Amino acid sequence: MEIIIQPDADAASLAGAAVIDALIRRKPAAVLGLATGSTPLTLYRELIRRHREEGLDFSRVTTFNLDEYLGLAPAHPASYHFYMRENFFHQVNLSAARAHLPDGLAADVPAACRRYEEQIAAAGGIDLQVLGIGADGHIGFNEPSSSLASRTRVKTLTMETLRDNARHFTDPGEQPRHVITMGVGTIMDARTVLLFAFGPAKARAVAAAVEGPVTASVPASALQLHPRAVLFLDQAAAGDLRRREYYRWVHENKPDWQRF
Ligand code: PGA
Repeated sequence: MEIIIQPDADAASLAGAAVIDALIRRKPAAVLGLATGSTPLTLYRELIRRHREEGLDFSRVTTFNLDEYLGLAPAHPASYHFYMRENFFHQVNLSAARAHLPDGLAADVPAACRRYEEQIAAAGGIDLQVLGIGADGHIGFNEPSSSLASRTRVKTLTMETLRDNARHFTDPGEQPRHVITMGVGTIMDARTVLLFAFGPAKARAVAAAVEGPVTASVPASALQLHPRAVLFLDQAAAGDLRRREYYRWVHENKPDWQRF
């Protein structure tokens, strides 16, 4: 794991955007795995800025989002379809046909989950997956106890996640308890993983993921087994890391050829 601690969330987001920019310029038909939530908003804003001002071209890029609420229509303002259209898709030149999210309204959910995995494979696999982390250690919506070998499937959200995300629903009765999410195994197949975590509420989960044992109780800890997982943290999210001075030292002393 590479731990990059930045002064604040904006600096961490800009550093992550630069990695994605470099990938797309090197591989214009790159396949990106995308995340929702409050964490990647600045990352998307910076990618949009690079598209508008610096010619970053998404016309051949393919995307797959991590998850979607079961039962929410794409037009629902709390759906991840809606989030992605508003915060990213509509502001770059990405082809709608190449922007994928799980289908929260699928009539046959297991078949839709299998098809999502097949679509990822048919696209050549995910080159770079963007991740946030839940306060309970989830990645995607793989809540604690998720199999570390899991694939795209339905999950039931924890009470903690339901509470964390309640702010997105004006009518609490509309908040789904179930989601379709890529599995931990799906995420682990991405060639590069960038995980972003900001704020003190994420410090405990980050420390458990980086310095705790690899365990299904902290799904993000599976990333310890990933050959190319990079964590972009602000000071607060790095606050509980015992070796944070070492991670800073590593970053400051990286040979140029090894830098992103
Ligand atoms: P957040 O969610 O970015 O809204 O904090 C992250 C997550 O639950 O993975």
